[in-house]
Amino acid sequence: MTLRERLENVKRIFPKADSALIAALHEVQDEYGWLHPDGLKLITEVLGYTETHIVSVASFYHFFHLEPTPKHKVGICTNLTCMQKGAYDLLKFARENADPKKVFVEEVECIGLCDHAPAGLLNGTPLKDLTVETLKDILENPEKYDEGYRETYEDMADLYRDG
Ligand code: FES
Repeated sequence: MTLRERLENVKRIFPKADSALIAALHEVQDEYGWLHPDGLKLITEVLGYTETHIVSVASFYHFFHLEPTPKHKVGICTNLTCMQKGAYDLLKFARENADPKKVFVEEVECIGLCDHAPAGLLNGTPLKDLTVETLKDILENPEKYDEGYRETYEDMADLYRDG
């Protein structure tokens, strides 16, 4: 499916324009690895937002990247529970061992997986009970673990219907 078709699908899922933008931004970032200007232009065409509005929303959320970054993004949670279970050691390991052309490593706030600490995200896919060994494999083979984010926002679309 082309990016335009995916954005039209977003428009169908979220008929109220204001609720479609985050999903549309995810689609563009999935296509390019970051919010490439060509993708933002396509959002303006399909969903009708101005580029200024798109950038103002995107810049509010740390998980959207307005500069080029690798497609795979690994976030390690370093909030209290994860920190107590070694998150900073994992973050250091990831920063020292990730191929910067392949994987972008970032620190993230609590993602609600405290019972599986230390936890993280790979492009929206939960990473639970992380160890150095599993993290090493994730960094080397991110495509093996990446289940994407689309299912999440398609589930959430129900919240926006008939509202
Ligand atoms: S503290 Fe890490 S997921 Fe909650």
